[in-house]
Amino acid sequence: MPNWVRAARAADCAVGRLTAANAGGAAIVLANVDGRICALEDRCSHEEYPLSDGELDGGDVVCAYHGARFDACSGARKALPAVLPVRSYPIEVRDGDIYVDVG
Ligand code: FES
Repeated sequence: MPNWVRAARAADCAVGRLTAANAGGAAIVLANVDGRICALEDRCSHEEYPLSDGELDGGDVVCAYHGARFDACSGARKALPAVLPVRSYPIEVRDGDIYVDVG
């Protein structure tokens, strides 16, 4: 069942950057990939450190701790040492606010 909650202002998510946010108690990381905003769980699947401490490299989120890479929009794992994907969330922008479906 969808559960849309407001997470951030779209204007606060700069192009090419990661932004940590809280969506109804869920820690998420917002990635602005050339104007497309995507949301992932803010927890690396390797050792559970926050992905928001890392950086956005093109369409990849790069974990700051051991260099794992994930697709910023699907959460698919793209490089070791992570072997599992991270959860991705649907998002919508309404009136300049980012809503995340954490349902
Ligand atoms: S915690 Fe992310 S690569 Fe190790």
